[in-house]
Amino acid sequence: MSFKCLILAAGRGKRMKSATPKVLHPILGIPLIKYVFKAVDSLDPKEVCVVVGYESELIKKELESNPVKFVTQQVQLGTGHAVMSSKNLFKNYKGQILILNGDFPLIKTKTLKSFLKEHIANSCCVSILTGEAENPRGYGRVIRNEDSSVVGIIEERDCNRNQKKIKEINSGAYLVKSEFLWDSLSRLDSNNAQKQLYLPQIIDIAHKRKVKVGVKKLKDIDEILGVNTRNELTNAQNIIRNEIVLMHMNRGVTIIDPKSTFISPTVKIGKDSTIYPNTYIYGDSKIGNKCSIGPSVWIKDSSIGANTNIKMNCFIEETVVKNNVQVGPFANLRPDTIIENNAKIGNFVELKKSRVGVGSKVPHLSYMGDSILGENVNIGAGTITCNYDGVNKNRTEIGDGAFIGSDTMLVAPIKIGRNATTGAGSTITKDVPENSLAIERSKQVSIKNWKRAQKKK
Ligand code: UD1
Ligand code: CA
Repeated sequence: MSFKCLILAAGRGKRMKSATPKVLHPILGIPLIKYVFKAVDSLDPKEVCVVVGYESELIKKELESNPVKFVTQQVQLGTGHAVMSSKNLFKNYKGQILILNGDFPLIKTKTLKSFLKEHIANSCCVSILTGEAENPRGYGRVIRNEDSSVVGIIEERDCNRNQKKIKEINSGAYLVKSEFLWDSLSRLDSNNAQKQLYLPQIIDIAHKRKVKVGVKKLKDIDEILGVNTRNELTNAQNIIRNEIVLMHMNRGVTIIDPKSTFISPTVKIGKDSTIYPNTYIYGDSKIGNKCSIGPSVWIKDSSIGANTNIKMNCFIEETVVKNNVQVGPFANLRPDTIIENNAKIGNFVELKKSRVGVGSKVPHLSYMGDSILGENVNIGAGTITCNYDGVNKNRTEIGDGAFIGSDTMLVAPIKIGRNATTGAGSTITKDVPENSLAIERSKQVSIKNWKRAQKKK
């Protein structure tokens, strides 16, 4: 089934009360428009075009890695006008055009596929996707005549009292033969409450001209819920989140509290892992088998190996954590960090652009930036790398088996040799050769019979 697709995304989305264009508001870290794009892209369209207008550059940037063409609608004069603005992109194209609002992220590929199939099988000139809504408020209502054939769509603002009671709503998805589309668009008028050119008016025109109108009516209207307000954004999020959580549970993941678990659609989680409440796993993240994650953990664009335990209150971004690793509680793993197998990262530890070798431990209260730790290194509590001199970020290298005493300051650039030791409390400014002890500390003095100052009575 060959078709081209047009996604409408030029509007600001006034009802969101936001400076960000509506279609860029994210659900589980992914902007609304990407859900719509993904649903249609899986059907292998000949081309996808997006109508942009408000903050067009932001939308183009978001979609830049996808095979999408853009057209600009300079002023937003309505959905019909938005489609008209794209006419040049479809020059010489005689086939079917699937038009989709950019703000209905729940739509599924499967549904679009059967919508397309029915439209073509029934040789319709134009088809609409509708659903019976318990609460149709805000949507265009589908008007049918006595023999139940569709005669048009009326926006809520233009409905009379009886029409408002109609529960069948327009989803904002249309399939139209291109010839009919351009012809009917040229006949739109703006005799409506918003004085705009409405795309749904092409259905009235189709009826009047007696061309065949197809209707695919959905039982499950979740799929066609539009997002116009923050409340609708959260509702849509909850539906998507539930589906994702359920999918992981069905594949053998324990999710203690689905309601407080937020997993992006792109995330993979291995069997027998447990996700504790209030956890966010976003972006391009992957969790291995038999992991324990959370509670209250944030993971983004990171990979976690098997049998790894990410304890309470960790923040992890663009990091690779391998197998049998313990992290946290309260660890902050910043981008470009790699934690090798069997390592341990303890509480109140921050790592940035660092690699922690197999079996190494950074158990308490440390900062390691721009560092490479070999295997079986032990970093004493309170140790930090002084990696920044105000201008440059300098590197620290710590060899295999080194033992860094508690509260060591490692002033980078610096190299600590294999099996070297540093004394607790030392400020290390020079490279330490392998197998040696570096200690930098003034000698302790004890003053006998020392009397502390007394408070006057
Ligand atoms: C629209 C439909 C309504 C349907 C509902 C489904 C119209 C007139 N009404 O209403 O029948 O029930 O969707 O959710 O089409 N846009 C542009 N340029 C414009 C105006 C809008 O690109 O000039 C884009 C928006 O960015 C948005 C989409 O078109 O992605 C729909 O616009 P919106 O204002 O949300 O329409 P609704 O009022 O929801
Ligand atoms: Ca809408």
